[in-house]
Amino acid sequence: MGSRLVVRLLLFSVLAFPPIGVTAQQGGGTSALGVTVGKLQTDEQKRGDAIFHKNCHLCHIATAQKRELKINADELVGLFKRPNTSEPAVRQLIQEGIPKRMPSFRYNFTAVEVDDLIAYLKVR
Ligand code: HEC
Repeated sequence: MGSRLVVRLLLFSVLAFPPIGVTAQQGGGTSALGVTVGKLQTDEQKRGDAIFHKNCHLCHIATAQKRELKINADELVGLFKRPNTSEPAVRQLIQEGIPKRMPSFRYNFTAVEVDDLIAYLKVR
């Protein structure tokens, strides 16, 4: 095989298959774990995304195994688009938790962190 052919093949593969990172970074809607949710535009939403994935992920992100065991909680996607969701009620729920089901986060977050989390949940 001539070296010119090798060069052409290499060039072709780079042009035809750009590295994944290049395409994945467009759009800006990618969360800390690469799950695409509503667009994360503000700093508040981005911080809230990180807080969510650190604290809520364990229960509120489904995996095949969790589905099989029926132990995953609601994924909270589109939570604030549901007609019966109110912001004060969600804030209260995060503070108080649900007895025997969800922990209270009263002592975990600052007021700003709760605001960030709410901002994130609104676009999740
Ligand atoms: C130990 C597991 C666990 C963790 C951690 C957890 N939750 Fe929950 N959460 C639950 C369960 C269980 C429910 C009630 C059942 C359901 O909605 O699927 C619930 C319900 C909710 C609801 C009400 C859902 C609805 O449909 O009205 C919200 C909002 C919520 N959680 C937010 C959060 C947020 C925000 C965090 C992180 C700060 C969090 N949860 C962390 C287990 C958890």
